[in-house]
Amino acid sequence: LILTQDELKKVAAYKAVEFVKSGMVLGLGTGSTAKHAVDKIGQLLRQGDLKDIVGIPTSKMTHEQALSLGIPLSDLDSHPVLDLAIDGADEVDPYMNLVKGRGGSLLREKMIEGCCKKFVVVVDESKLVKHLGGSGLAMPVEIVPFCWKFTAQRLQLLFNEVGCVAKLRTCSENGQPFVTDNGNYIIDLYFEKDLGDLNAASDAILRNPGVVEHGMFLGMATTVIIAGGRGVTVKNK
Ligand code: A5P
Repeated sequence: LILTQDELKKVAAYKAVEFVKSGMVLGLGTGSTAKHAVDKIGQLLRQGDLKDIVGIPTSKMTHEQALSLGIPLSDLDSHPVLDLAIDGADEVDPYMNLVKGRGGSLLREKMIEGCCKKFVVVVDESKLVKHLGGSGLAMPVEIVPFCWKFTAQRLQLLFNEVGCVAKLRTCSENGQPFVTDNGNYIIDLYFEKDLGDLNAASDAILRNPGVVEHGMFLGMATTVIIAGGRGVTVKNK
């Protein structure tokens, strides 16, 4: 039996939902993998197998999905401490550091997932990398729109030594800048070489006043669930 990538995502997501217990305050992730987890939580609530769940959505999209499923929702103002969050990731390194935000929801994800007692990451095995930023895919940085070219240039120069190209994310339909749920832009950084010290890279990015947040989630995941051709692996911190 060969599963498609979407079926693998579902397998990982459903496994994570086994961690959900009645009465929990839950961070609801964003993206094609997290979507399966949110669907399942909605289904368990409807069936009465889960009760008294409060969901904290990490994007407007997940907010809409959860509303349509009848999941009771709240926010960080009312629930500054969460029991558990389930979310996907774009890259996972061997130390469970992540790249997130290719869907553009990194800021709310980081705010919410940083307040969780448990943060369960759900991926198919294609997301596993040796080094973050090494997959040749984007490392997203959310920036304010004001003088975005200036901030993009500063970011590119910062990583000159590792061959960095900074690109404004645009919408494929109209070529206009992609705007996040928070009214900001995304700069996607592409690296030719290894980023090296991730904490140093994180600090250097955040030192730019035009930067709001970046998509490296360092030391945040407590569990990673990986679905692959040979089954499901659960990795704990
Ligand atoms: C949203 O901004 C992202 O952080 C997603 O969680 C991440 O991109 C994973 O998405 P998929 O599950 O769709 O790959």
